[in-house]
This record gives sequence, C-alpha cells and structure tokens, in this order.
Amino acid sequence: MCGIVGYIGKQEKKEILINGLKELEYRGYDSAGIAVLSDGELTTFKSVGRICNLENKCGDFVSNGFGLGIAHTRWATHGKPTEANAHPQMATFSNVVHNGIIENYQEIKQSLEKKGHSFLSQTDTEVIVRLFEENLKDTKSPLTAFEKTIASLKGAYAILLITKLAPDRIFYAKSGSPLIIGKGETGIFFASSDAPLIGYAQKVCYLEDGAVGYMDMECFEMLADIKMLEQNKVYAQKEGFRYFMEKEIYEQHKVLLETMMGRVSEEGIFLESLAPDFFDGITEITICACGTSYHAGMSAKYLLERLAKIKTQVVIASEFRYAGSVMRPSELFIAISQSGETADTLEALKLAKKNSLKTLAICNIDNSSIVRESDGVILTRAGIEKGVASTKAFATQVMVLWILSVYIAHQKGLLDENALKEQITSMLQATKATEVSPKLHERLKRLSKRYLHGHGFFFIGRDIFYPLALEGALKLKEISYLHAEGYPSGEMKHGPIALADSLLFTLALLPKHLLYDKIKSNVEELSARDATICAISSEDFESADDMIYIKPASDYMEEFFAMMVVLQLLALEIAIKLGNDVDMPRNLAKSVTVE
Ligand code: F6R
Repeated sequence: MCGIVGYIGKQEKKEILINGLKELEYRGYDSAGIAVLSDGELTTFKSVGRICNLENKCGDFVSNGFGLGIAHTRWATHGKPTEANAHPQMATFSNVVHNGIIENYQEIKQSLEKKGHSFLSQTDTEVIVRLFEENLKDTKSPLTAFEKTIASLKGAYAILLITKLAPDRIFYAKSGSPLIIGKGETGIFFASSDAPLIGYAQKVCYLEDGAVGYMDMECFEMLADIKMLEQNKVYAQKEGFRYFMEKEIYEQHKVLLETMMGRVSEEGIFLESLAPDFFDGITEITICACGTSYHAGMSAKYLLERLAKIKTQVVIASEFRYAGSVMRPSELFIAISQSGETADTLEALKLAKKNSLKTLAICNIDNSSIVRESDGVILTRAGIEKGVASTKAFATQVMVLWILSVYIAHQKGLLDENALKEQITSMLQATKATEVSPKLHERLKRLSKRYLHGHGFFFIGRDIFYPLALEGALKLKEISYLHAEGYPSGEMKHGPIALADSLLFTLALLPKHLLYDKIKSNVEELSARDATICAISSEDFESADDMIYIKPASDYMEEFFAMMVVLQLLALEIAIKLGNDVDMPRNLAKSVTVE
C-alpha cells in the first residue's frame, strides 16, 4: 500500500528520500515520486514501476544545503498507475503526498474547477494541493490555508505538503492513516511506518488522529509523547509483532476500511471500476479460485444467492480446467486471487474467456496476470500480504464479494433503501468486529496449550460458516501441520461422527444469528460421543469443554468476521506453541505459479 517519507535538513535529500522509499517497498506499490524544495527551487520526479526507475529519472540531481523533501510510493486506488497519478501531486508552487482516500474529493474538485483550476491527474490527492493554494488567496498564512484545507477533507489520510511560500517547513495532517515524525542528528524525518526512520531518527512521535500542523528544525521537542525508536529493521517491518501473519491479522480492521473506502458510504454502494451495465444480461455466476480464495468464493455463494438471488456455483480452478464444464453465454466468470498469478486460476480464466464468458477478477495485485486477463476488476486493497498463510487477503475478498452481492441486489431492485442501509451498517460493524482485543488474544494464547495433540480437528459450521470452518481448518493445517478438516455440521452424522472420541477436537462455529439451534443439536451429538468441544459463540453453550466468546453481534456477518479472527489467531498460537515458523510453513509457497 502507499508509503510516505519526508525530510528537513542539510543532508543530500534525494538519497534520504529514496532510501526511505526502499524501506517501504515490501508494502507493495505501482509508482513512486519525490519532490525537493531547496534554494527556492521546487523539483519533482515521478515514475511508474520500481523505485530504480525513479532513481534513473532523478539522474544526477543533487540538493546540498538546507532544504525539504517529500516522497511517496503509490498503490493505485483512484486512477491508474501512471506518472500523472503518482505522488507528489502538484499545483503552482506547492506539492503534496497523501496516503488514504479523500471521500469527498469529487465535490471539492467540482467547486475548484468552477474557480478555474484544471486537474492534471485522476487522483483524489490533487484536490488537497489545489484547495491549499486556493485557500491561500484569502489568507497570507500558509498554516491557516493548510488547516482550512484539512478541515474540508472527509476520509482517511496522512498528508505531507510543501510550498515555496514556506521553504523551512513541512505541513502535516493525520487522520486514520499512520504518520510518524522523527528527529535525528541530521534533521527531521517523516514516515508512514518505522522502517524508513531506522538509522536516521532516534526520537519519534507517532501522531494521533486529528494532528494538523507544521514541522521545522526547531519545533520537534514541542510534540507530545516523544519515544525512542527501536533500531531493528525486521522488527520495524513487523511493527512489533512476532510474525507477519500476526501483524496481518491485526491489520484486518484497517485494510477492510480501505476495501470499503469510496465503495461503501451512507449514500450507497459504488463500484467505480465497473461500467454501470457490467452485469446486464448476466443470469448466473461461476466463481473460480484455489485454497483460501476458493473459501472466500464459497462464502460468496451464500451472499450472492441470498441477497442478489443469482444462481452461483463455486469451482476449484485445478478441477475446472479439465472437467469439460458446460459454460453458458449469460454466465459471469469471477476469478478470485490474492496474488493474481496462481497458474490454475489464470488458466481457468483463459478457458472461460475462450468460451466467450464475461470475466471479473477479484484480486489484491493490480496489473497482475489475472487482472490483465479479465474484462472487469475489483481490487481487494489488502496491501502486501507477507505471511504465507493468507489472512487479511481472505477478509478483504469476502468483503468485496459481500459489497458485490449488495451492489447487484440493489441494481436488481431487490433491496429497498432501508435494507441497503442495514447492509452498509452491517459491513461497518463486521469490520469493527475484526479489531483484536488483547483479552481475546490472551485467552487464545492460554487455550492453545490444550490443543497441541490429539488425533485430529473438526471445524464445523453451517451455511456461510461452513466455508469459514474450511478456512479455519486450512489455516491450522498450513502452519501447525496438524490434521484438520472442515465440515458442514449437519453432515457429521453421515459418517465423520464415527471418529468422535475425547482426542477428537471439534471447533464449533455457533453464530447466534444463523441456524443457532440446528448447529447446537449437531454439536450436542458430538459431545454425547465424548468429542472435545471448543465452541466459538457469543452465547453460553453448556455442552462445550471450552468456550471462546465473541462479542454479542447484531447479525451473522458481524459474527462471521469476529469468528474468522478467532480461527486465525488460534491457528497462529497453536503453531507458535509447536515451535513452527508461521511465516514460512514447510512445503508452501506464497504464489503458486505452477500447475
Ligand atoms: C492459504 C493460501 C493458499 C492460497 C492459494 C491461492 O493460506 O494462501 O491456499 O489462497 O494458493 O492463491 P491466490 O489467492 O494468490 O490465487
């Protein structure tokens, strides 16, 4: 995802900025840029692709002596990854870099256009710098103009702005996106995470939401809550977590908000990347994927059929390729993939295209093969996922598919305004339900000790909680190497219950708001046969040996996302107790580009 770096001081600025951007490369990006203000000159370089392209662009440019610089890696959300859309975004005498999304940029843009501004990019970010210069017409003070600009913005942001009118300072604002200011021997530093600051800054201040102001060489000590910076790079990239997987589980709340940004708002659901008539003539859907993405697809079947009343089948890509499946012209083919490079999914997609199906990619990586091959795309915006066992990618896939289901349902007139609002509220609550509470994590750490041995795990659930059970079992298998299976709970008595004894661990997903009594009976049948039951629910369940409580929820999707986090953390803690490297599980690769 996007990254920010900034510097004030006498050192060579280009080098500091580019080194900082390199520390953020692991987060994923598709273009990059820097702007340097020194000796009254404001110089900007931008390029698409890798940071080495930006270095080539900068050529021999140097900026010795006092000055300022801001830099950015962009992960496209509004507008394609082009040089014009890369940051810094410029107006006449000022430059800005921005992480996050400005939700009301269209309104601001229209009002600025009426005042004569012409926009050079498709980004939401350009409105910030143009509004700043517009506000400067009414006030001589850049700080007042900046504060007024920030007060007009809705959405999430971390912003750095420089202007020729104030060549000794960088203006900053933070709300909902991280921003850090650091101080070292050679000057003042800014970054969107710790990694670029290591080796440069010794003291840091993690800005709070609502922070707006400017920083020069003098005023760092006036910041509240200054801390010493831990000088270990890998530790910094993991942001204090033991494993990337753990960090990614904790990040889910934040990335889900990114997934929703610009798509889900009080006014409704918008899928900007798709033409309004994209679904015209579509009567059924085939979803195709592998592994965790396949489980997200299975979850979507319940949502698409229940909400949008559209017949949906979900297929495993490696099976679909050779099954000689019947394809009908009115069928939409949806490929789901985190990496966008999974060989089986890509080949299945090509096969669907060859059979003249309309195709849609739900993918985390823009410009990946699957995205390039598809007629339409919805990016999941999970940011780069480093843990081999997928977590936040799954969460964002399910969210995108839920958004899509509500979008189609609304287009088809199946949801009135009230029902639409309920869905939107539920999405926000579900996102909130992924915030990890320290109490829950501590409980799972302690509980995990009891689940290290035994002869197997069953994860059981019904309806949309069945694919979640499959995903819980897959997470455990991948990183703990213990045998685990996911089952629809109603299926147990048709065979698997024969395995029940006290060394069979059953993880039962018991949502209060979906088929609670039915699942409860299925679990009781297992309990009666001595299986060890660990129930995940907001409700007490007397037959359980262990309970993992989720917070009381208003609907089943909120429970789905809350239970997803429980399953991910439980797998993580069991694997850690068994001494495994959860970020690099044996035999697995992050991107499976072979058949
Ligand atoms: C599980 C996991 C894999 C992937 C599968 C598909 O944690 O990561 O099962 O989900 O290999 O990969 P993508 O989504 O990149 O197509």
